[in-house]
Amino acid sequence: MVVNSKKLLIEAKKNKIAIPQFNVNNLEWAKYIIEQCNACKTPVILGFSESAIKYIGGYNVASSIVRELDKSLKVTIPLVIHLDHASSFESCKKAIDAGFTSVMIDASRYYLERNIEITKKVVEYAEKYSVTVEAELGIIDNHKENYTNLEEAEKFIKETNVDSLAPAIGTEHGIYKTRPNIDFNLCEKLSKSIQIPLVLHGASGLNDTTLKQLVKLGISKVNINTELQIAWSNELKKYLSENKTAYDPRKLISSGEVALKRVITNKINALSGN
Ligand code: G3H
Ligand code: 13P
Ligand code: ZN
Repeated sequence: MVVNSKKLLIEAKKNKIAIPQFNVNNLEWAKYIIEQCNACKTPVILGFSESAIKYIGGYNVASSIVRELDKSLKVTIPLVIHLDHASSFESCKKAIDAGFTSVMIDASRYYLERNIEITKKVVEYAEKYSVTVEAELGIIDNHKENYTNLEEAEKFIKETNVDSLAPAIGTEHGIYKTRPNIDFNLCEKLSKSIQIPLVLHGASGLNDTTLKQLVKLGISKVNINTELQIAWSNELKKYLSENKTAYDPRKLISSGEVALKRVITNKINALSGN
C-alpha cells in the first residue's frame, strides 16, 4: 500500500530502528526494490532524485511506476513515493501534484532564514495533501564547519514544523574518498533535542557497525543509492565480459538483479535494530 512516511518514521524512532530509502534509477530497480523489501516484509521509501525523474520521464511516470507495481506485485508492505533532494518549492509541488507521498526539500545551500522560508512554504503546501516533508540543515560533506548546528536545528524545527531532518554529521554522497568523519556525539545530541526523526544521507560505504550505532543514536531513515549502483554495475560489467555477444537489454539489465537484492537485504538487516 502506498502511504506517507510520517507514522513509519515516528514508530521507527520510538523502536530505535531505521526505514531504508533506496533510490530508484529506472523501472527495473523499482521492481527489484519493491520485490525484495516485500520478501523481507520491510516498509520501504522509494527515493527519486530530480535527475532520476527526468531520466524516467517525469513526476507522473515515477509515481505511476510505484502505484502500478504495488498492484501488480500484490505488495503487502507500506511503500512511500519520495522526492529526494528537491531543489525548489516548484519541484516539491510537481511531485505532490503527481501523487508522491513524501518530499525532501533541500534548501541547505541557502542561509538559515532562507532555508526556513522555503521549507515552511513546502510544509504548508504538503500538509493539505498529507504529504510528509524532510528538510536538510548543514551541508552534507565531511567539512566540520558545515556540520549541523544544534541551536540552529532547534530553531529550524520550531519555525518550519517539518516532519524529519537530514543533518550534516560527517557523511558524504557518492564514493568516500577519505574515511568518513562522523560526529556520533552530535547525532545523539540532535536526536535528543529536536525530537523529530533524523535522516542519514550518504549512507553508502558505511559499515554495518557504524550504521547500527547511528540507528541506536537516533537515525530513523537511511538513504542508499551509490552502493546499489556499484553492486548492479559490477554485475553488468561481469555479464558483458562473459557474454560478449549478448544484446537483449532485459538480460543485460537483469544481470544485476541478484546483486542489487543482496545489498538491499544486507541493509535491511543492518537497520533492523538487532
Ligand atoms: O543524494 C543524491 C542521490 O544519490 C541522487 O543522485 O542525482 O545522481 O540521481 P542523482
Ligand atoms: P549515497 O550516495 O551514499 O548512496 O547517498 C544516497 C543519498 O543520500 C540519497 O539522498
Ligand atoms: Zn542524499
